[in-house]
Amino acid sequence: MNMWDPFAIAAAAGASIFTLGYLYRVYRNKQWGYCDSKSNLSGKVFVITGANSGLGKATVEQLCARNATVVMACRNIAEGQEVAKKIQKKYPSSVVTVKHLDLSSLASVHHFAENLLQEYPKIDCLVNNAGVYMPDKEARKTADGFEIHFGVNHLGHFLLTNELLERIKESAPSRIVVVSSMLHEKGNIDFENLNFEKEIPESRRGAGAGYCNSKLANGLFAWELSKQLEDTDISVFALCPGWVYTGLFRNSRIPWYGYVAMLPIAFLFMRGPKSGAQTILYCATSESLEGRKWGFFRDCKPYESKALQRCGLDTAKKLWDVSAKLVKLVK
Ligand SMILES: NC(=O)c1ccc[n+]([C@@H]2O[C@H](COP(=O)([O-])OP(=O)(O)OC[C@H]3O[C@@H](n4cnc5c(N)ncnc54)[C@H](OP(=O)(O)O)[C@@H]3O)[C@@H](O)[C@H]2O)c1
Ligand SMILES: *[C@@H]1O[C@H](CO)[C@@H](O)[C@H](O)[C@H]1NC(C)=O
Ligand SMILES: *[C@@H]1O[C@H](CO)[C@@H](O)[C@H](O)[C@H]1NC(C)=O
Repeated sequence: MNMWDPFAIAAAAGASIFTLGYLYRVYRNKQWGYCDSKSNLSGKVFVITGANSGLGKATVEQLCARNATVVMACRNIAEGQEVAKKIQKKYPSSVVTVKHLDLSSLASVHHFAENLLQEYPKIDCLVNNAGVYMPDKEARKTADGFEIHFGVNHLGHFLLTNELLERIKESAPSRIVVVSSMLHEKGNIDFENLNFEKEIPESRRGAGAGYCNSKLANGLFAWELSKQLEDTDISVFALCPGWVYTGLFRNSRIPWYGYVAMLPIAFLFMRGPKSGAQTILYCATSESLEGRKWGFFRDCKPYESKALQRCGLDTAKKLWDVSAKLVKLVK
């Protein structure tokens, strides 16, 4: 074969690009961080929302690999049970149950919490993982009339956490883990327009403003919660799991060529659910976080959130008070 054959050159170039891409991927993988904890979780109760798919499912699987007791809080019970059955079979020393929870309905949150408290005398860790992403122009509302992202991602979890709080306190040392996102940095809390009653400003359209705002609300909620729990032995950790291929953008109607164009980007920059679940697992289980009460994490390392600094604790407290009114929290 002639070395200068155009075909050979193209093949060599392709192979080099592929190899470089692959090496880059291996390098990225190292940076993403892995949960260091390998301890026995037997008898420890973890409650995780949105556990039937994506990051939630991957987290359940890895908790069960270490013999945990896991309650999967799912909107889609049938799918949840399917997943639970497989995991239980794979890890017979774990205990997996599925319970119905639809975060877009406050009544469902009440019902779930009531039922859970009856059955579980102890909750060692609550993981607020469920999340929805929808194009803002669809202007979807929850059953109680809240903007869909604010209602599901923030308010539903706000109520759930509060309703389980006494039990989590009794189970201390315990943890509350809030899955936020790097996109919280693009979020904004406008108390005059929490439910998008007003037009979304031109400059913020198309950026998924509702989603970003809800992820910022997640961060502020966790921060304020950690302040309120300063005298307890509950730790509160917020985190970004990284950019992970899951079904999160299933409502975005991306055309097939969009997916094809995304392939190289996904290969180079996105992680799989198992890798994405690492920071969640780290916050939920790592011994190296023992004694630490609060933090925002990314890649299993502390992350300095600019948005939380920009908003400040005043905004976090105000968001708490407004949320308590909206969900009619009784204290
Ligand atoms: N993927 C990423 O790149 C990325 C990046 C940063 C942060 N996150 C965050 O990671 C978390 C998990 O997302 P994912 O990527 O794993 O996406 P996913 O596969 O779409 O999982 C989201 C989960 O939330 C559940 N959920 C949605 N609406 C719900 C409701 N009203 N009530 C109860 N459960 C509901 C979904 O249930 P159904 O199956 O019934 O819809 C699903 O189990 C989210 O909080 C997301 O914001 C993801
Ligand atoms: C889980 O339980 C099995 C069976 O009892 C045991 O062999 C295994 O070591 C346990 N795993 C951990 C991480 O403790
Ligand atoms: C794991 O912990 C449980 C409860 O503390 C204990 O009964 C069990 O023997 C432990 N298993 C292993 C493999 O260490």
